[in-house]
Amino acid sequence: MSALVSSWSKNVHTVPENFVCSSEERPGDLAVPLCKGIPVVDLQQVDGHDRADSIKQIMIGSQDFGMFQVINHGLLKELMDDTMSLFKEFFDMPEEDKATYYSEDMSKSFRLYTGSFCHSVINHNYWKDSVRQDCHPLEDHIETWPEKPARYREVVGTYSVEVRKLGMRILDLICEGLGVDVGYFAGDLSKFQGMIVNHYPPCPNPSLVLGVRGHYDTNLLTLLQQDEYGLQILKDGQWFGVKHVPNAFVINIGSQLEIISNGKLTSIKHRAVTNSSVSRTSIVTLINPSEECIIEPAKALVSACNPLMFQAVQCKEYVDTCMPKARDPNGATLES
Ligand code: OGA
Ligand code: NI
Repeated sequence: MSALVSSWSKNVHTVPENFVCSSEERPGDLAVPLCKGIPVVDLQQVDGHDRADSIKQIMIGSQDFGMFQVINHGLLKELMDDTMSLFKEFFDMPEEDKATYYSEDMSKSFRLYTGSFCHSVINHNYWKDSVRQDCHPLEDHIETWPEKPARYREVVGTYSVEVRKLGMRILDLICEGLGVDVGYFAGDLSKFQGMIVNHYPPCPNPSLVLGVRGHYDTNLLTLLQQDEYGLQILKDGQWFGVKHVPNAFVINIGSQLEIISNGKLTSIKHRAVTNSSVSRTSIVTLINPSEECIIEPAKALVSACNPLMFQAVQCKEYVDTCMPKARDPNGATLES
């Protein structure tokens, strides 16, 4: 249990050697510029006369940055705050409570693990602890979730249902933007939903470590809620910060959505940095196709002018083997 970064990091004033990133990977100068131009889309406008403009913003974000942010998205601020506080409470629980949930068995529907384990594939340690859980269908998984803090199942259950509705709504707006039938992603393409909650304790020297190394999300769509700045993207060979917009969700295009869009949308490499003063928590909802699903460009997006850009691949095979990327047990993908 002492493996958890949140357990021992309070007592250290320097970064342990095995957490120091290689010189190519380390964030170094933390004052990277904020990325300009990532759209912040007001979803309240979508049902009014600004619908076409909102969809255009979503497409610009998805094409040029692999992401956009949404505000006025329908999730109550109280629910978002409540869920964030609950996860902070979870990571603040006494060691003996957390110990009961800690597991290195990746097949578990719920588990607590740490940045030294989750990236063991690459033999490096990251400055975070995480929770990973399956969320949909809720009744199949809720029994595997913690009973402490007492409101965990109720709050996180409500949150995951609401975030799913938002994700499906955004996927339908993407359908409209792409010109495929609305509802295209309902069914097997969005059959599963997982949640990763990353907890990044304060770090004595954030320039030397990463919270999550650069990776592409290999799922369909990611919705991220965060309480502090820390997310960065690699654009045109340079790292840029993603502005923290309170109460917003950051929406990431997963690489399976890139395939289905026949390359019209792009997934972008991103990472998380830490900071020295406060802990940061990100609640990451991953919408995923079923494992058997065939991932291929939508027929409506392939024509003589838009030749097929990707071969069909089964979802499971894609996630297991997409080369040259090594798999991150988080469900996201790491470049080797
Ligand atoms: C992830 C991820 C970024 C963050 O978990 O896939 O990209 O800011 N997290 O926590
Ligand atoms: Ni990610």
